[in-house]
Amino acid sequence: MPIDAANPVPPAFPRHVGMDQVPDHVPPELIRQSGLTVGPEFLAGPHDFMAALHEKQPPIYYDVSPMGNMWHMLKHEDALFGLRHPEIFSNEGATPFPRDPDDYFYFIPIEIDPPHHRKYRNIVDPVFSPKGVLKLEEQIRRRSNDLIDGFIDKGECEFTEEFGRPLPVSVFLDIMGLPQDMRDTFVSWAMQLLHSNDRAIMGQAMQSITVYLKEAIAEKKANPDDGVVSLIAHAAPDGVPLSDKEIFGFVCFLFIGGLDTVFATLNNIWLYLAQNPDKVQEIHERPQDIDKVVEELLRRWSVTFSGRVLDQDYEMRGVKMKKGDRVTFILPACNFDPEVFPNPLEVDFDRPRRTILAFTVGVHSCMGAHLARLEVKIALQEWLKRIPSFKLKPGTHIEYRPGGVIGPENFSLVW
Ligand code: HEM
Repeated sequence: MPIDAANPVPPAFPRHVGMDQVPDHVPPELIRQSGLTVGPEFLAGPHDFMAALHEKQPPIYYDVSPMGNMWHMLKHEDALFGLRHPEIFSNEGATPFPRDPDDYFYFIPIEIDPPHHRKYRNIVDPVFSPKGVLKLEEQIRRRSNDLIDGFIDKGECEFTEEFGRPLPVSVFLDIMGLPQDMRDTFVSWAMQLLHSNDRAIMGQAMQSITVYLKEAIAEKKANPDDGVVSLIAHAAPDGVPLSDKEIFGFVCFLFIGGLDTVFATLNNIWLYLAQNPDKVQEIHERPQDIDKVVEELLRRWSVTFSGRVLDQDYEMRGVKMKKGDRVTFILPACNFDPEVFPNPLEVDFDRPRRTILAFTVGVHSCMGAHLARLEVKIALQEWLKRIPSFKLKPGTHIEYRPGGVIGPENFSLVW
């Protein structure tokens, strides 16, 4: 049914949670409790866990989890197909974030199916296009160097706290036109929302985000500036201003999509490089190949997933799924599909070019992908110029966070 984002309604399809809520049409032999994003095996090494799924599980299985039951899809080919067919795999009601059913809103653009989806992307795509983000290049270099100035002489840093998190979050706040002094508060809200497996904590975080963003939107409506919050608050596609719910749902999703993903990516990459000096050396020796380097690192260390809801009964690989079933394309596992990326855990900057799924594909492909690529590239360039070799501080214990964005907790580096 066509969506009316100005008058949102909670999704009609229920969330199933737990073994007693497995629908009858799911064959028992396809039911798993894989522990994805929360189990001990995942938390011990999430990317190794993803690669091993191809050996341990069928390409499509029904996962039962405290976070919700859903079909998991592991194959690169199936993800390309599913993500390019929104008329079968719909985004309506597909995100896991809780909302007040009496004051419901959609996360925009992620929960909007075509054709309405395009009208929202058109508002902000120019800011996030390859040309749009290039304007941010100098600013990202300056912010990277300012951060490095803060710790280089110590010969060590807490990577997440001192670089991996402040860099993308401050760039994001600049783009949005939001104040830098909210950086740490924003990060803590995002962590509670994206890394808790307790829906009550997620709900509280959502409440804090709501109160803050509603005030920020009202401020931008009264005093426009050139940030993205103001751009959205004043948008009028086809001459019709966005409703308050559309504005809020859009700004709110940018907050969710744009904060945690880049710093999780930086964390994963720096942790890997700290333990693989030969790869650092290769990056130094091949400055002209930096884009290939970034692409391969993004494939190897992809951090998130694409959730969908079936809009019709559908059969894939002989598995019969029903309208209303939830499906997650396990993008990090798709990026390790050995049929597409042989020897998938190896970082090989000369891999034949294939579509990587870090940012998904299709209409909902990540709006921030060009920005994220640019941030990773500049961070690598500026860091390696000033800290050409580095390693993990001896005794550092690595812990991964549970939840929908994969990355390690803080770790210390020395040089
Ligand atoms: C390395 C960093 C990032 C990764 C790995 C990433 C990944 C993704 C993925 C996988 C999706 C698709 C989700 C789905 O299919 O359900 C997505 C969508 C999206 N991302 Fe990102 N993202 C990153 C950075 C960003 C940034 C920096 C922003 C904004 C400033 C952003 C904004 C969005 C938006 C708005 C969407 C929804 C697009 C739509 O529905 O049309 N992302 N991202």
